[in-house]
Amino acid sequence: MQTWVIGNWKQNPATSHEAGALVQGLLAAIDAKSAPIACQLMVAPSSIHLAAVSTQIKGTLLLAAAQDISAHSDSIGAYTGDCSAQQVADAGATWILLGHSERRQYHQESHEALIQKLSCALKQNLGVIFCIGETQAQYDDDQTLDVIDEQLSLIKDLLEQQLEIGNPLSERLLIAYEPVWAIGTGKVPTVAEVSATHQHIKQTLAGFSAELANISVLYGGSVNADNAQDFATDSMIDGALVGGASLKVESFLAIADAFGQNSE
Ligand code: 13P
Repeated sequence: MQTWVIGNWKQNPATSHEAGALVQGLLAAIDAKSAPIACQLMVAPSSIHLAAVSTQIKGTLLLAAAQDISAHSDSIGAYTGDCSAQQVADAGATWILLGHSERRQYHQESHEALIQKLSCALKQNLGVIFCIGETQAQYDDDQTLDVIDEQLSLIKDLLEQQLEIGNPLSERLLIAYEPVWAIGTGKVPTVAEVSATHQHIKQTLAGFSAELANISVLYGGSVNADNAQDFATDSMIDGALVGGASLKVESFLAIADAFGQNSE
């Protein structure tokens, strides 16, 4: 299966100059490699850096994702502060991160708002990296699979709405399993735990629709150059969504190399 390594830059770096330098460093390091990286690489800069980064990576193997879009309209409208799916696509994004726990936590993104964002994204032909995962308290209470089922039910709701979404959903959906307690903490679940959770996610999606039987499921949460290989060798883990370690060329490419070796 194709593997994916996606850098979620969050609200980093501080300046457009630094964002440009990071991309330049990445492209130079990729060019200098003796063999091509075998996984699909993607970066998700903040909205303010998206257009410039997209221009820089045009014609390369890197893809660009946006970190958020408006729930209110996929195109234009009186929604101060929002960027629409059409606008981020016009700026060069081909994918979008949705459902990230930081957006759920700090922006109170609800199930309904996420369905709206998901349908806006799909209407504009963006691929969606849909993030799910349990908190520490939910993990301690053994509720991981219940939480995931609830979060994944959004995909079922979307299918039931039978929206006009153009290309098949199976080609435009990735799931990122990110336990909230593992994000930015240096704590990670065991590979066996992640593997079992991913198996559950894949079975659940296949139960929604046969079309979704082969959706890739990525792991996110404190992935770094040292632990990437362990995750990459598990057949249930189809890639990584990387925060902190994606802000340094060496660690991001080390993770890409680990998953590239396990790409088919
Ligand atoms: P860290 O890799 O910094 O833990 O962040 C993970 C994440 O939230 C990616 O979306």
